[in-house]
Amino acid sequence: MLRVGLVGCGWWAAHAHLPAIHAHPDATLVAAGDPDPSRLSAVTERFPDARGFATVEEMLAVSDLDVLVVASPAAFHAHAARAGLLSGASVLVEKPFTLHATEAHELVGRAASRGLGLSVSLPYQYTAAARSVRDMLTTGALGDLVGVHAVFESYTAPLYEGDVGEYLRRVNRPHTVAPLSSTYADVAVAGGGHGQSQTSHVVSAIMDATGAQPEHVTGESVFASPGMDTANAISLRLSGTAVATVFSSGGALPGIAAQQSITYLGTAGSARHDLARATLDWATADGASGHVEPGDNESAYPNGAPITALLDAVLQARSTGSEDDLRRLTARAESAARAVEVIEQLYRPESTRD
Ligand SMILES: NC(=O)c1ccc[n+]([C@@H]2O[C@H](COP(=O)([O-])OP(=O)(O)OC[C@H]3O[C@@H](n4cnc5c(N)ncnc54)[C@H](O)[C@@H]3O)[C@@H](O)[C@H]2O)c1
Repeated sequence: MLRVGLVGCGWWAAHAHLPAIHAHPDATLVAAGDPDPSRLSAVTERFPDARGFATVEEMLAVSDLDVLVVASPAAFHAHAARAGLLSGASVLVEKPFTLHATEAHELVGRAASRGLGLSVSLPYQYTAAARSVRDMLTTGALGDLVGVHAVFESYTAPLYEGDVGEYLRRVNRPHTVAPLSSTYADVAVAGGGHGQSQTSHVVSAIMDATGAQPEHVTGESVFASPGMDTANAISLRLSGTAVATVFSSGGALPGIAAQQSITYLGTAGSARHDLARATLDWATADGASGHVEPGDNESAYPNGAPITALLDAVLQARSTGSEDDLRRLTARAESAARAVEVIEQLYRPESTRD
């Protein structure tokens, strides 16, 4: 049995990670950490094998974990992930991976050098459509990538003002635990607004699919209050020949379905990834075309897939000695680290951007 610990016993842990850990036949939650005693006891009561801890240090000192899940607010991700890796655990970190690219790259380096898994919880990248477009770009099926354009709308604007109730009403999502308002509305804890919370998803998806490095980043944001952005427009030069644009806003309303898509245009074909529907449409210059959508039992937003994939990769390493899947996950965390570079540039005053 893999021994799993959780840092941050909040909404997303309850909604995505705990059900997936509970459903996994070879994993048990043995430790939970949260500075809020009521949040902590809600998890330890539900999972009787889990001991409760106020801090990650106390947890790691006695828990001998195989896997640590970091689902605390953004500003605390890097510290907890580093502590987990130093203890010898593989780590799943919630998005946004970290607030600073140096931290993200350092974590990837630590994991890679120790043969540990490091993964970022980015469910849009765990669908058949995402796998297909990544394969097409990796194999050159679209020719040389020329341009990428993305639009990513979400319903998150109320979160940046601390109105969690209005957000939950807009997404109409059942929940037993609601997010704390500070997690998204306190700049010191969230690291920013929409760029950290949502634009991180779409930029990570582009970095993951293309495998590119961000070479030059410019951007503009709408700010509701100092440091708290609600919409972003990003212009990017990617390594190779391609350029990319991303528009992302938290201002979608329930009356119109939020548009979330990335279009990849190459010299020999193009592909459109609809992240909200988890579909892919593609066509190539030789007349071929195709459509990919989720299978019967696949969710368009498989929020338990990132922790399940990490648990499976740790088990594979244990049972076969092959670290291939762990290394693959850690290599994908490198793409997420490149997305942190982009988001960090977005928040940097224009005069200090690279
Ligand atoms: N991948 C996704 O689709 C997705 C969706 C929602 C949230 N998230 C991410 O999950 C993380 C948590 O968000 P949430 O919505 O569950 O928020 P939340 O407010 O419900 O949960 C955060 C929890 O962390 C605890 N906490 C605060 N400081 C801590 C610390 N230093 N160490 C440990 N725990 C601490 C809080 O007490 C709270 O219980 C955020 O990074 C968020 O961006 C990801």
